[in-house]
Amino acid sequence: MERKVAVVGVGQSAFSRSCGISIRELCFEAFKEAMDGLNLSPKEIDASIVCSAPEYDKQRTPSGLIAEYLGLTPKPTFLVETICASSTTGVGVAFSFIKAGIKDVVAVIGFQKMSELTSAEAQERMGRGGDIMWESPFGIMMPAQYAMYARAHMKQYGTTEEQLAKVREKNSKYGALNPKAVFRKEVTVEDVLKSRVIASPLKLLDCCANADGASCIILASEEKAKKITDTPVWLVGWGSASDTMTLANRTLLTGLTCAIEAAKDAYKMAGVEPKDIDVAEVHDCFTIAEIMAYENLGFCKPGEGGKLIEEGQTYVGGKIPVNADGGLLSKGHPIGATGGSQVRTIVHQLRGEAHKIHPSIQVQGAETGLVHNVGGVGLYANVLIFRR
Ligand SMILES: CC(C)(COP(=O)(O)OP(=O)(O)OC[C@H]1O[C@@H](n2cnc3c(N)ncnc32)[C@H](O)[C@@H]1OP(=O)(O)O)[C@@H](O)C(=O)NCCC(=O)NCCS
Repeated sequence: MERKVAVVGVGQSAFSRSCGISIRELCFEAFKEAMDGLNLSPKEIDASIVCSAPEYDKQRTPSGLIAEYLGLTPKPTFLVETICASSTTGVGVAFSFIKAGIKDVVAVIGFQKMSELTSAEAQERMGRGGDIMWESPFGIMMPAQYAMYARAHMKQYGTTEEQLAKVREKNSKYGALNPKAVFRKEVTVEDVLKSRVIASPLKLLDCCANADGASCIILASEEKAKKITDTPVWLVGWGSASDTMTLANRTLLTGLTCAIEAAKDAYKMAGVEPKDIDVAEVHDCFTIAEIMAYENLGFCKPGEGGKLIEEGQTYVGGKIPVNADGGLLSKGHPIGATGGSQVRTIVHQLRGEAHKIHPSIQVQGAETGLVHNVGGVGLYANVLIFRR
């Protein structure tokens, strides 16, 4: 019989523009929260998977350092990296270990400390996640690449700058209620439209910001999970896909093919359809990315994402609540930590604990939740489905 896999613990440090602590301390904050209330000691964790994009740290192979600091040695530890999708890739590796019966309890720790670089230096590093011969040296980095997707979407479907701005307006409403988010101020469509242009049509407030932060997700087999916690949340679907690194070789420029493929696999494994999802966390690194995610995940038809946000259907209380924790746009985007933070939010929602953060963000009776986490500009995508 197939082994079921549960998330038993979730944790996150505060996300900040500059944390003022070391990467080991940052990871400890997330680990401590994930272990809180569990009937589990660090020595009972069979493996740790550390997830981080390496180009921001002086520390080489940080998994060794983090495992030592968290008391997880001599059990195996290693680094997993798929840029911004690193920690959900780590969750996928942990899921496979447990499903295959190789390990019973695995901790996935994602982190990034980006504050030692300026935003310009960080963009140059991120550009290395694209084709460094033919694309990034010519300025085609993250904001410019997503701006091209936005332009294509506007041209093909008539999506407007106001609809893009509405995504930030929604996410800022929830970000203002999230004590761990970087940006806790509500902004309006007008604020977004008036903010300075970064890569037209994307303006400052259409973009997420670099941040420092860590997340931790602890997964366990069914047998162990029942001993560790009374509130396991089941990981029932995991899909993953990739696309060409070179944008010039992409066939679709109004959506992310890898997200479409990852979603198909995740829905199939979970035996559910888009209409069964009660709450979702999607990778809104730029406002256009959230609109494309609605379409790529099947929450609406291609081209109807702008209308979905305009009608307010992705607010809590709408057809499909999305990013009720503020999303990357409000929380900040510490690359290796982001996917784990998204999983944490969905687990809170399915346990019915999101109301403790604020009653208005809890999706009442949520049974099935989804995480969509993208690495690079649609280079890697992971889609995960959880059930209460
Ligand atoms: C948008 C961006 C280019 C702005 O960088 P910048 O012009 O160098 O701005 P700085 O980092 O110097 O910050 C200047 C101010 O703008 C604010 N700011 C920066 N980015 C912001 C954002 N995305 N949203 C809101 N405010 C932001 C800063 O807090 C700072 O405010 P302060 O002066 O009150 O502290 C940068 O945030 C960025 O690169 N974002 C995208 C990150 C990315 O691509 N991640 C991967 C996606 S998958």
